[in-house]
Amino acid sequence: MTINKLILGDNLDILRQIEDNSVDLIYLDPPFFSNRNYEIIWGDEGEIRSFKDRWAGGIEHYIAWLKERVHEMYRVLKPTGTLFLHCDWHANAYIRVEILDKIFGLNNFINEFIWKRSSNRSSISKAARKNYDTIFFYAKSKKYTYNQLFMELSAASKELYKNKDKHGFYQTVPLLVSGKRQGETGKIWKNIDPNKQGQEGMHWVTTPAKLNEYEKQGLIYFPKNGKTPRLKYYLEQSPGVPLCEVWDDIQLVQGKERIGYPTQKPEALLKRIIEMASNEGDLVLDPFVGGGTTIAVTDQLKRSWIGIDQSVQAVKVSELRLQKQQDLFSVPFTVQLYKYDYDTLRYKNAFEFESWIVQQFGGTCNIQQRSDGGLDGKMPDNTPIQVKRSDNIGRNVIDNFKSAAERNDKKLFEKKRKESKPVGYIIAFSFGKGAVEEAARLKIKENIIIKLVTVDEIVPIAKKPTITIDVSEKSRGENGLWDLELTASGQSDAGIEFYSWDCSYDLKKGFKPSLIMDKEGRHRYQFKAGLHHIAVKVVDNDGLENIEVIKLQVNGKIKKTLL
Ligand SMILES: C[S@@+](CC[C@H](N)C(=O)[O-])C[C@H]1O[C@@H](n2cnc3c(N)ncnc32)[C@H](O)[C@@H]1O
Repeated sequence: MTINKLILGDNLDILRQIEDNSVDLIYLDPPFFSNRNYEIIWGDEGEIRSFKDRWAGGIEHYIAWLKERVHEMYRVLKPTGTLFLHCDWHANAYIRVEILDKIFGLNNFINEFIWKRSSNRSSISKAARKNYDTIFFYAKSKKYTYNQLFMELSAASKELYKNKDKHGFYQTVPLLVSGKRQGETGKIWKNIDPNKQGQEGMHWVTTPAKLNEYEKQGLIYFPKNGKTPRLKYYLEQSPGVPLCEVWDDIQLVQGKERIGYPTQKPEALLKRIIEMASNEGDLVLDPFVGGGTTIAVTDQLKRSWIGIDQSVQAVKVSELRLQKQQDLFSVPFTVQLYKYDYDTLRYKNAFEFESWIVQQFGGTCNIQQRSDGGLDGKMPDNTPIQVKRSDNIGRNVIDNFKSAAERNDKKLFEKKRKESKPVGYIIAFSFGKGAVEEAARLKIKENIIIKLVTVDEIVPIAKKPTITIDVSEKSRGENGLWDLELTASGQSDAGIEFYSWDCSYDLKKGFKPSLIMDKEGRHRYQFKAGLHHIAVKVVDNDGLENIEVIKLQVNGKIKKTLL
């Protein structure tokens, strides 16, 4: 079973389905209480609904909205678990006092980190500038997971390492420390008796044997003025300074990491939090996953994860981001949307489909794949279920099922018949006229009810979008590159959300987008002469997607063929 999951939905509903005490670390970056339109990031139905939800009232309403969610987060955290809540000046005071202290208890406040977002000078006067975010750190109990991290040394501290030898830059630290000792570390070395040093006497930091070893390796510094030797301490050896509360060493998202939406958090920030408060194999949850920064980093750090967002776009961008970074050895993940794509279900592995749909219907599936007498599962009262992963089911299926159900449990079959209740269920994508007529005949003539259930009565199904690509030449650069404009055009009843491009598509590696989110369906890219494979995905409002791959021969002329 895959643990790694991306889930579309209101996090309150999804959190309620997660077991108590099951999560190691929660990071949440909820929409801030800023009452600005830039709080709308994705602009799709899910997000707008959530935006209206939060803005139905003032700050009290916002706090109540967040509080009931944090309550659930507290419940799902393990006793060793921790929560990091990312917010800013708009509501941080209210969040701490009204939510976190109340739910976690004052004693379980661990720290408040200040992320100074950038050191850029701003034209806003110092008094009005609010160039920082707050990250509250709470634990569920005193026995929480915590790993000491270190920050890079400041430039001033680095300057202390001003000496250099073949091993690198170093500073020197004392070999003698205060306090008399009788054992090895109190012995005379290089004619220096440590017990006679200083007012109270001193001792070596290690044994004379070890000091000789250090000397051989050139790790001891002998001052020219004949003073006590000192130990060389190299810049490389220094782990840095223990992590402090103010983080001014993490820049806003830049370069290749940028996906193109305003509230994206830097991976370095999440790396710090995840490494600080979890270990490999732990489960990390982000209930406001946005563009998937938390889960992307969690996956890189070999932890398991669950990401939730109410926006289809956020979930799909996160999915593509994960796909881009994963390789053959990565742990697979699942994506749960509101609707299921007909083609994916219809052509899924038969047994996988049978067991999944039987469960969705409220039954349990037969464990043995063969010799199941045509019965694939049963309802809690043992009424049999058969699954046909096809369309247009014929009359003979009904008759065969009737015999199988009767053979399976004759007593139950007769009981159900007497009670005028279904003797069994057949699940299929659609039923032909013959099957419907036969089921009706059995009911009328023999009082045998076989209920025909279509898959879309159990789970919502939609057709995935369709897509076409066009290519036009914009210019041929001096450096021999062809500047081409690729235009994708998608159609879906649900409406198109965005497109995603992979301009050096490799079937073996899968879709690795060079541009994750393109709202327009237009991508300009420079190609060298030669053969290129280009893939574009279209994502619709239900989160369903389709892919088109073309072969593009660029050489004097441009020739496009479908793959
Ligand atoms: C500030 S963004 C998170 C950004 C994220 N940390 C990142 O680095 O990409 C907040 C996200 O919360 C989502 N959201 C808002 N209300 C929600 C709700 N009730 N349930 C689930 N997600 C919600 C929004 O759709 C948005 O993607």
